Amino acid sequence: MSTRPRISARISAISESATLAVDSKAKAMKAAGRPVIGFGAGEPDFPTPGYIVEAAIEAAGNPRFHKYTPAGGLPELKQAIAAKTRRDSGYAVEAAQVLVTNGGKQAVYEAFATLLDPGDEVLVIAPYWTTYPEAIKLAGGVQVDVVTDESTGYLASVEQLEAARTERTKVLLFVSPSNPTGAVYGREETVAIGRWAAEHGLWVVTDEIYEHLVYGDAEFTSIATAVPELGDRIVILNGVAKTYAMTGWRVGWLIGPADVVKAATNLQSHATSNVSNVSQMAALAAVSGDLSAVAEMRTAFDRRRQTMVRLLNEIPGVFCPEPKGAFYAYPSVKELIGKELRGKRPQSSAELAELILEEAEVAVVPGEAFGTPGYFRLSYALGDDDLVEGVSRLAKLLSEAH
Ligand SMILES: Cc1ncc(COP(=O)(O)O)c(C=O)c1O
Repeated sequence: MSTRPRISARISAISESATLAVDSKAKAMKAAGRPVIGFGAGEPDFPTPGYIVEAAIEAAGNPRFHKYTPAGGLPELKQAIAAKTRRDSGYAVEAAQVLVTNGGKQAVYEAFATLLDPGDEVLVIAPYWTTYPEAIKLAGGVQVDVVTDESTGYLASVEQLEAARTERTKVLLFVSPSNPTGAVYGREETVAIGRWAAEHGLWVVTDEIYEHLVYGDAEFTSIATAVPELGDRIVILNGVAKTYAMTGWRVGWLIGPADVVKAATNLQSHATSNVSNVSQMAALAAVSGDLSAVAEMRTAFDRRRQTMVRLLNEIPGVFCPEPKGAFYAYPSVKELIGKELRGKRPQSSAELAELILEEAEVAVVPGEAFGTPGYFRLSYALGDDDLVEGVSRLAKLLSEAH
């Protein structure tokens, strides 16, 4: 009998998505009748707008969409994504530079698989979204963390990036607005970082999936448009999930120079082929329509954001900088680690999160999932009443810590 391991080393090294794990545990407790309030989910609580659903229904009845279509995406959707990118980012791009993917997640995997050779380093600003490390690792890349904290509102500086750069650095991953922190880089900061990357010949992979979810005086700046010096060394990742409440439809895209898009399309043609045509037609209605649905969601998220930050900052031992975008708050809970709470002494934010789920029936994602222990991520994409109830339960429990 072979003594070779049952699971390959490459795949064994991939960890379960911590955010999905928290969410599924909370859902299981809920199904068992416990009144859990979940701050774990990374998705809008709104249904997909009706006109988008209608487009999908119509597409489902059209025999053209019952068949394989080009692996890289329906031509009309690629055109519409190019036009939408010009409209929203001011970035000039042709349809041939667009690859339609199974959600933004596949775009993340394909971008790193296409750009990285084993040993190539990627600068990743921490806290970072859980999927990036796995995609980089699977491609053979080496992640180099650039750690930020609440003192700068989780923004990295050029000096920090430069200190992490080596001869092997190939890519800077730039995500603004950020999941999990909600940090948004201003225009000046974006330009400084982009110029630094250009000066050193780095590629920039930028994830713009939260582009339309910014609040107050924060503005979204596309690094691709703001820094023409980057030339063609830029790959943009995006999708319909967050803007149009379409997480379940699985449509994202990758935009880049023609050779990168061609290579990534080759990969996709063997892995998954075309994204479901029905979903692509729904995405076509979404990106060619107006932005009124996201404007409505943004108003609700902004209200919830303000409530959440205020309530969190009232809890002793919790400090939450104001998130400027996306729909997450990322408070520090460092002061609570090691304190006694209901007969236990949690030694990490992961242990504290577990205790909170058991004792207060509130689900939060610990900072361990995002490369920075000592924090929680709380999504505010849930109903106003649940939000207040959940944070109040958290406050009540955590105020017992001593
Ligand atoms: C920063 C970021 N990028 C990409 C995605 C991928 O979204 P999807 O695969 O649902 O399109 C997410 C989802 O949580 C995200 O937070």
